[in-house]
Amino acid sequence: MTILDAAPVAAAPICAVAPIGLLAELTHRCPLQCPYCSNPVALEAADKELPTAIWQDVLRQAADMGVLQLHLSGGEPLARTDLEDIMATAGEVGLYANLITSASGLTRKRLERLAELGLKHVQISFQDAEAANADRLGGAKNGHVRKLEAARMVRELGLALTVNAPIHRQNIGNLGALIAMAEELDAGRIEVAHVQYYGWALANRAALLPTREQVNASVQVVDAARARLKGRMQIDFVVPDYYARRPKPCMGGWGSTSMNVTPTGKVLPCHAAETIPGLAFDNVRDRPLRDIWLTGAAFQKYRGTAWMQEPCKSCELKEVDWGGCRCQAMLLAGDAAAADPVCAKSPLNDRVRAIAEAESGSDAAAFTQRNYRNAKATAPA
Ligand code: FES
Repeated sequence: MTILDAAPVAAAPICAVAPIGLLAELTHRCPLQCPYCSNPVALEAADKELPTAIWQDVLRQAADMGVLQLHLSGGEPLARTDLEDIMATAGEVGLYANLITSASGLTRKRLERLAELGLKHVQISFQDAEAANADRLGGAKNGHVRKLEAARMVRELGLALTVNAPIHRQNIGNLGALIAMAEELDAGRIEVAHVQYYGWALANRAALLPTREQVNASVQVVDAARARLKGRMQIDFVVPDYYARRPKPCMGGWGSTSMNVTPTGKVLPCHAAETIPGLAFDNVRDRPLRDIWLTGAAFQKYRGTAWMQEPCKSCELKEVDWGGCRCQAMLLAGDAAAADPVCAKSPLNDRVRAIAEAESGSDAAAFTQRNYRNAKATAPA
């Protein structure tokens, strides 16, 4: 059975076609102001966030569907004072819970309680290994020191730790130090993720995009660290699309492995899906999650391969990379059904390479920080 012929509402779990993971964006509030934040440029206001009971119901529905992993994210999920109530439900229904956090506000008492309730894994984002630059990028005084303390607490309590390290032109020189920092913190995994240029990162691209030489050097740093740390720490590496020959299989294919629920309850196939005009998003307030996943218009739109145009349509890799990223196709080609222009087969690929060359070589260093004030100024009408 494929997801295209699954019944919209069934009594039994739909494990064969259910998403593996659910990203619960509990809030867009965040004490950090990272210029590459993956939240939309138009942030959702605190007074519009889903209440506790609806989040708990969403988690019960997710577990009933066969979802395995819950990623509690934001913004900063710790900004929700009911995070423990939400976590309790995740524990009750048996979801593997992962907290994705800046660690600001993560006290020992709070972490102990979350662990008692079933939290298994914590991902802490680090802006750099050098405290002054990290705090400048994140816009939070002493934020880096607090993150180090929080990471140590995570390991002391026996929880799995991943260090998230977004990489760009303003910290790429410290990549080796970031990996060493994760090793010293006893992280099981570090995610070295070159920033992807959507939302806030797109607005700040000229200040963040590294040069090809810097990217090549980062590959060598990662390769050497992987050899040195084999069997001790996993290093996941996301290269910047703009220098790739083939696109990434974004989301593992649209509507195939995960779903995002926004702070106000919209259910999205990916975090940037709202940048695609004309897509209608169902809300958990209005429809069951299972129904949205199986038959929701936004999920059906680019699921599978039937929607593809050339060159994707006849490409031998179409079920490997799924045509790349729909949101990036929208941003760079003006058509979400086009081949992702970062693919060398795209007729627009030369344009992407020209952007990469021009912007990575620019002297721009100033960026717009992500906060509600700037969101209001730059939010789409
Ligand atoms: Fe939306 Fe890639 S971010 S499909």
